[in-house]
Amino acid sequence: MKQHEKYWQGTNVVTDIGWGDAGKGKLVDLGAQYADMVIRYSGGGNAGHTIRNHLGEFKNHLIPSGIFNPKTICVIGGGVVIDLAILVKEIEELRTKGVTVTPQNLRISDASHLVMPWHKFRDGLREKSRSGGKIGTTGQGIGPTYSDRTAREGIRICDLLRRDFTKIFDETLHYQKQLLTVLDGESHQLLNRDEILKELLKMRKIIAPFVVCVLPIIREYHERGKNVLAEGAQGALLDLDLGGYPYVTSSNPGVVGFIKTTGIPAKEISKVIGTTRAYTARVGSGPMPTELFDKIGEHIQQKGREFGTTTGRKRRCGWLDIPAMKQGIIIAGADSIALTKLDVLDELPKIKICVAYKVGGKQYVDLPTVDARFMEKAKPVFITVPGWTSNTSVARKFDTLPKEAQKYIKTVERLLEKPIDIVSVAPEREATIFL
Ligand code: IMP
Repeated sequence: MKQHEKYWQGTNVVTDIGWGDAGKGKLVDLGAQYADMVIRYSGGGNAGHTIRNHLGEFKNHLIPSGIFNPKTICVIGGGVVIDLAILVKEIEELRTKGVTVTPQNLRISDASHLVMPWHKFRDGLREKSRSGGKIGTTGQGIGPTYSDRTAREGIRICDLLRRDFTKIFDETLHYQKQLLTVLDGESHQLLNRDEILKELLKMRKIIAPFVVCVLPIIREYHERGKNVLAEGAQGALLDLDLGGYPYVTSSNPGVVGFIKTTGIPAKEISKVIGTTRAYTARVGSGPMPTELFDKIGEHIQQKGREFGTTTGRKRRCGWLDIPAMKQGIIIAGADSIALTKLDVLDELPKIKICVAYKVGGKQYVDLPTVDARFMEKAKPVFITVPGWTSNTSVARKFDTLPKEAQKYIKTVERLLEKPIDIVSVAPEREATIFL
């Protein structure tokens, strides 16, 4: 068995230790070649996982990145909130590009909650009404869907499949209209019952064959020792409970989200793989101590093609932030690190790494709190290391990387106090180095 084949054995979780978008899609697509099952466990249409492989370039929002391996069963877990329009469009687009998507290789949890038009509406309404401090949500209705789930006001896929769905729908719509009247006067009139219902019933027909209770299948694969790969969404620093509230998403992107969705206990997970770029990026609001507002930041943004996959917003870019990523490692539960987008730094003669924060005259290597206000006050303390000013995107082995790039990776590994096992040097599947 090859070294990297061994890496994917067992039940492994791929998550992001930062603020998201650090290449989970690529990694899952890679690992899926050895996976019997790939489970997407949290988030919703706010996610955008970019995959570039032999079939082309894809930007999946809901369908697991394992879909390109025909032998893998892909599962959308009950912790994912589903916008049916996004899901149906994604299935159609994948099929148009020659990817097999059938009820044999895609299973959707009957417990998943549906993102409804009123959720998107409330998402926008709340953002508009915030005086300062907007969260900068993706506008996909994620927060309101998860909050209705918690308040037991949500509609699940199993409700959609019921014969008396219209009754459930009407009751929920009535409640949502009452809510919107309180929140925003007459705006609820934008919700046209017949139109929404017609669309839902149309989409129900398409997705019904994919819907099952996924827990017994997940349990069976896990217990039989099959290779199960879990795909998170967003990043650990956006965790609802342990991230920098309120600049967070409404789910648990790290290992906790996987446990909540599958019921598989932490002690039975082989390892948690945490992705981080060789620099830092963030989309939306919230503190980001190493953010660059100069030409270098612009260069990283451009070269890294740092645009939000879902919203198209420019991502904020800066130097690698070790204190933040160490915090992310704890929240994510990461054991092994995949350092991605190393090639984005190829042209820089000098590279900075933030090794600590200064707050109120004191220096912090580890964050004493998850409170976003602490990070807002933080001034980064940098070390500067030499760049390599050569093309790393062609390297396929650690030894063939320029010496300075090797040193950079080893320095980051030492600072993160976790093994870097994978380095990604370009978007393509094969542009990956196993250490
Ligand atoms: P929401 O998840 O749309 O409610 O947005 C909450 C925060 O999470 C915002 O700052 C978003 O920009 C951020 N966010 C949501 N999804 C993603 C993602 O997939 N990648 C990176 N940031 C995200």
